[in-house]
Amino acid sequence: MNVLPLLDMRGITKSFPGVQALRGVDLTLHAGEVVALLGENGAGKSTLMKVLGGAVSPDAGTIHLSGEEVQLRSPLQAHRVGIAVIYQEFNLVPPLSARENLFLGQEQTRAGFIARGTERRRSLELFERLGVQIDPDVPCRSLPVAQQQAVEIARALAFQSRIVVMDEPTAALTAHEVERLFAIIRDLKAHGIGIVYISHRLEEIFAIADRIVVLRDGANVGERPIGGVTRNELIELMVGRALTDEFPPRDTRPGEPRLVVEGLCGGIVDDVSFAIRRGEVLGLTGLVGAGRTETARLLFGADRRSAGRIVLDGRPLSIRSPRDAIAAGIGLLTEDRKTQGLVLAHGVRENFGLPNLSWLSRWGWLRLGQERRRFAEYGDSLRIRVPHHDQPAKYLSGGNQQKVVLAKWLARNCEVLLFDEPTRGIDVGAKYEIYRIINDLAAAGKAVLLISSELPEVLGMADRILVMHGGRIRAEITDVAAATQEQILEAAMGGA
Ligand SMILES: Nc1ncnc2c1ncn2[C@@H]1O[C@H](COP(=O)(O)OP(=O)(O)OP(=O)(O)O)[C@@H](O)[C@H]1O
Ligand SMILES: [Mg+2]
Repeated sequence: MNVLPLLDMRGITKSFPGVQALRGVDLTLHAGEVVALLGENGAGKSTLMKVLGGAVSPDAGTIHLSGEEVQLRSPLQAHRVGIAVIYQEFNLVPPLSARENLFLGQEQTRAGFIARGTERRRSLELFERLGVQIDPDVPCRSLPVAQQQAVEIARALAFQSRIVVMDEPTAALTAHEVERLFAIIRDLKAHGIGIVYISHRLEEIFAIADRIVVLRDGANVGERPIGGVTRNELIELMVGRALTDEFPPRDTRPGEPRLVVEGLCGGIVDDVSFAIRRGEVLGLTGLVGAGRTETARLLFGADRRSAGRIVLDGRPLSIRSPRDAIAAGIGLLTEDRKTQGLVLAHGVRENFGLPNLSWLSRWGWLRLGQERRRFAEYGDSLRIRVPHHDQPAKYLSGGNQQKVVLAKWLARNCEVLLFDEPTRGIDVGAKYEIYRIINDLAAAGKAVLLISSELPEVLGMADRILVMHGGRIRAEITDVAAATQEQILEAAMGGA
């Protein structure tokens, strides 16, 4: 018997000015199947899913649902034929409540009025099925990320979707929330829903996917059942070359202390002290909410500290604002590129220049030539894909936006670099480049703080690891080579 696939996309082609994002891409999906869509930053994954979600109209190609051809002209229409796309950047309307978002476009009505009671009841049923506790009347903007995502998934269920797309759904989730998401995905599978799953975290692919489809430069380059592929083969398919090691070697030894932090307090951060030495990469890990980002923000002057001393190279610093921190030679790569790192409407090169104005305009005017040169340099080593350097940042793929933010800080020549989740959303090939750059910074004598939730990354990159829980440092691991993920997790959960 020849079962018709739930979804059959054929020859999907799409160009944007200066970029051919998709070149005749095919994708099939069966009921109850999880297909992982993989590829480097800018490969075309999100664009393909925007075509499926009715948000981008293709230049060519066909889409069949259970054998029937469909034209998807708008997101609402896609939703109505059973396709729910949960985008990299969520699509909820922030001021509306969870309930209003859930039923947006298919309001439950009685005699022409919105039946709030019915909607409320249905919302609660859906949240219960997903195992989350959300007040349907709370505005979505005040929900934590994991709950906003649950509202999106509930919306898919409310519309009786047959196909659910998740574009990097775990980027902002804790390990525990990822487990819950996987339980939800298994439940959706069991109900015959087909799922397209996009992620740069290979462990997740092996944990949840049935089949992988790999794109490179907007074209299909491979497709395998998950059982028939190894981690290395998968990386090679994505990147187009073999990567023997995931972490480049570093042969420098940390020297004297450069950044010394004593008794730092503010927000949930409670009496945090540590030092970062010359040429050292200090790992800072813990669960989301442990106070890692807050620590970095206090050091950077982005939040006000209530106590604590910050000393750089023996000189006490008085940091009251990010401007003070930058002047003192401290840089912060934020975890949230969308709201803190980039001006989305500005061109890439312009964004690149922004925090660098002080040295780019040393004699009072913008030295555009130099800006361009520096950008080209970092653009190459990080493999930032842009058609031209004045492309507005909002049109870049998620991973490429992150790289622009990174390039911005690298070009500044800071003495202390605070990296908050620097490789989130970055493909495996470019991750290696970022690790190499971190090593170069260390070799040049800088002090680097590497905040990361990915334990293999901290174990592979740090000279020493601090583990935070509840705003305090709970453990210091000096013998990183002998440390295990279990040991770190235990400290991160507040154990020994
Ligand atoms: N609206 C747009 N205008 C111009 N270019 C665009 C637009 N949307 C996407 N692109 C370009 O199309 C290409 C594919 O981008 P896409 O977002 O699909 O990549 P991706 O595979 O999702 O990458 P990532 O892993 O970084 O999220 C990129 O070069 C991107 O800059
Ligand atoms: Mg994407």
